[in-house]
Amino acid sequence: MTLQSSPPGSHLLAKSWAAGGAEPSLSPAQQRLVVVSNRVADLTAPVQSGGLATGLGAAINTLGGVWFGWDGNRDGKTGGPLKVCQHGPVTCVGAPISPEDFSAYYLGFANSVLWPLFHYRPDLVDISSGSFDGYMRVNEVLAQQLFPILKPDDLIWVHDYHLIPLPSMLRKLGCRQRIGYFLHIPFPPPELMSATPHHGCLVDALLNYDLLGFQTDGDAENFKSYLRKHKPEVTISQKRVQTETRTIRIDRFPIGIDVTEFSALSRQRLRDTSLAEKPKNATPRKRIIGVDRLDYSKGLPERFRAFHDLLQRYPAHLRKVSFLQIAPLTRAEVEAYNDIRVEVEQLAGSVNGHFADLDWTPVQYICRPIARDILAPLMRQSAVGFITPLRDGMNLVAKEYVAAQDPDDPGVLVLSQFAGAAEEMTDALIVNPYDIESVAAHLDRALTMPLGERRERHAALLRHVTEFDAKRWADSFLEALRGD
Ligand code: G6P
Repeated sequence: MTLQSSPPGSHLLAKSWAAGGAEPSLSPAQQRLVVVSNRVADLTAPVQSGGLATGLGAAINTLGGVWFGWDGNRDGKTGGPLKVCQHGPVTCVGAPISPEDFSAYYLGFANSVLWPLFHYRPDLVDISSGSFDGYMRVNEVLAQQLFPILKPDDLIWVHDYHLIPLPSMLRKLGCRQRIGYFLHIPFPPPELMSATPHHGCLVDALLNYDLLGFQTDGDAENFKSYLRKHKPEVTISQKRVQTETRTIRIDRFPIGIDVTEFSALSRQRLRDTSLAEKPKNATPRKRIIGVDRLDYSKGLPERFRAFHDLLQRYPAHLRKVSFLQIAPLTRAEVEAYNDIRVEVEQLAGSVNGHFADLDWTPVQYICRPIARDILAPLMRQSAVGFITPLRDGMNLVAKEYVAAQDPDDPGVLVLSQFAGAAEEMTDALIVNPYDIESVAAHLDRALTMPLGERRERHAALLRHVTEFDAKRWADSFLEALRGD
């Protein structure tokens, strides 16, 4: 996205709304949507597979509105001029962040404290001094820059763990608009949540939203269990929490994808022929595919071990199968990400060292991003989608794999029980990623599954991902936020 510099807020600046002012009420169709997330996706470039930008990009491109967040540069000045650009119906507004704040807010509190804890990895938490202050400071400045842009009837939709405190800061500035929050990652059980520094303050901030959306029932339940334990003053019912000042609706909104778009992409010819299986191969090989950011939550070491076990214990697959893992680097400055990179590289090398032959490389491991128009046909060609995170909010790659399949000859999805998607995608082969032998047995089952069963499972999965797509996710969230 080429964000053009402009004076703070520029043409977006709406008349500041005096608290309690008598602004005319707009109908839902006239209400403007203001999305706030840490990253503002590049709407001009092809998005990578999975993740927040995939689901949100599909939704906001249809609805239009303002998308506000960090401008993506690391050398700015926190609070400096906003960058504004227009992409069709979406006005993107980027806020700069200084290197020190980037380090404390993004690398520090968000990705070295909240991310590991919310993914059930307290052992990987790194609490460096000043990171919480930096996290709060960036949220406060973002609130100050966002507030003048808001119109009285805007619907504000905030995303993910980077921006938990944002609503309390907006409220302090006088913001009375309805604000919804969607957490893309898991919400941990109370024992883990209470291991988060300043957990009480974070949860108090969440109670300033009007709607709290989670990926799964389990996440919503974890949040309510925390409240029961630590906030006895609030009243909790099935889908509501009542504080002294606010009624907050709580619900599950499983995020989806744009199935039509991804399916159409998958039917295109693969333009990168180096990634296609060559016809000169004596035996056509079946491909197992995994696509993830290189994150310790994705279960990559366990996945390589399971593939090793498959080749060891089911020798019928030797030379007949290959495993393509695409895992672009991410958050490389955080130590835990460097450790996982080293471990995964060693494991990929060790499987190849053990089993490869002059004409067969069992593991292809690519740690750079691959464009979606290459990924989608690759997924369509792959006999197995191997998606086995140790913990994941949803996992949209699982949905993309289903959307990419040829319904007449579909592949099989092997999915971790710890992905949010497993709550819905029950026709996948659901596995425990820690149980290496069992995962290998499921891979064998997937590779040898008769066509009839593959079609039945795929048809059920496709029906589900089509019904609960990105549009339905956004529509149902916004309907709940409006209070319809
Ligand atoms: C996950 C998070 C998103 C985040 C994405 C990419 O999907 O839920 O909020 O944007 O990972 O991570 P990054 O740190 O590169 O933004």
